[in-house]
Amino acid sequence: MRGKSILLIIGGGIAAYKALELVRRLAERGVGTRAILTQAGAQFVTPLSVSALTGEKTFGDLFSLTDEAQMGHIQLSRSADLVVVAPATADLMAKMAGGLANDLASTALLATNKPVLMAPAMNVRMWESAAVKRNRAVLEKDGVLFVGPNDGEMACGEFGPGRMAEPLEILAAIEQALAVQGPLKGVKALVTAGPTREPVDPVRFLANHSSGRQGYAIAQALASAGAQTTLISGPVGLAPPDGVKLQRVTTAREMLAACEAALPADVMVMAAAVADWRPDIAANSKIKKSTDRVVPLIKLVENPDILASIATGAQRPRLLIGFAAETDDVVANAVAKRARKGVDWIIANDVSGDVMGGERNRVHLISEAGVEDWPEMTKIEVGTRLAARIAEKLGAA
Ligand code: CTP
Repeated sequence: MRGKSILLIIGGGIAAYKALELVRRLAERGVGTRAILTQAGAQFVTPLSVSALTGEKTFGDLFSLTDEAQMGHIQLSRSADLVVVAPATADLMAKMAGGLANDLASTALLATNKPVLMAPAMNVRMWESAAVKRNRAVLEKDGVLFVGPNDGEMACGEFGPGRMAEPLEILAAIEQALAVQGPLKGVKALVTAGPTREPVDPVRFLANHSSGRQGYAIAQALASAGAQTTLISGPVGLAPPDGVKLQRVTTAREMLAACEAALPADVMVMAAAVADWRPDIAANSKIKKSTDRVVPLIKLVENPDILASIATGAQRPRLLIGFAAETDDVVANAVAKRARKGVDWIIANDVSGDVMGGERNRVHLISEAGVEDWPEMTKIEVGTRLAARIAEKLGAA
């Protein structure tokens, strides 16, 4: 969603303070925000604090001559990629459902030609009232998107649905709403990432240095381009990417089962560093040091090759992409791996340096057309470039 912009309408509710956090999080992701603060909203947060975070003028008055001269209300309502109402009060919902235009917020909502996402926040009785239910149904029918409200204790002391969704949830909904217009709209994507852990006993395991960063960046880029994306991840210390369905697994066998359950998909990217072997028996209790200093021998057995088994399975995605982590003869090994595994593309990288766990990557894309050498870039950039190539390929197919 980097480079996109949001028009944020902040309504009058105690949850308005969370809108400030939302603006901060959007800025972190390179999304610009322009805000309209309703008169009621200005009772809870000030135009100054909103502007300090958006870095822009905060609008509030429909009949301000200076505002109209700088940016007319019609232009304001269409200047962003998405209009977000947070908190969406019962009053704002009613105004929009009824087509009222008696202040800047309601006028912008009526005049906009962009999708609208509402994050309602109100007392539980208000949320459950017949009028709000009716307005919500009208708005949904008109194509307005909703996130929340959540159940929980409310500022008024009552309990139930009515709490505004948390900023991170709103962010995920924004990501999704923006992605609906992307080049991978309607595409189902499956990505694996991270290492697998193969237990030796309840406290020990075999694993590798994979951080999951490259796979997470690919999942994020696919979702941002509009793909409905599932990420199956081994144990890593990364935050879930926005707008992605994340499923956590531990072992290679769990990863295989999760992949099979998540199919069918149009495209699959296997970025996971799956353990090739596992101990044949995982002891039920901790293996103790023996008194006669005999070192235990761990017998390894082969793990299923997830990529190869999906390549030959009945649900093979239209575009199947594997990784080849190599330390020697990177390209030659990867070309051979592409044929051996029966995949369409291989992303090959040299992992002899500090690629595993690092922020940057230098990869080669190996396809039916030959070998493409990509310059060194961040893993995020690799993800974005790969998502664009996938969109080209699926669009052309
Ligand atoms: N892979 C897999 N299941 C395995 C091992 C690997 O699905 N049990 C996938 C990886 O996710 C990656 C690709 O296969 O997309 C290649 O992984 P890599 O470890 O480079 O290759 P291996 O098949 O293990 O071959 P080798 O270790 O001999 O290089």
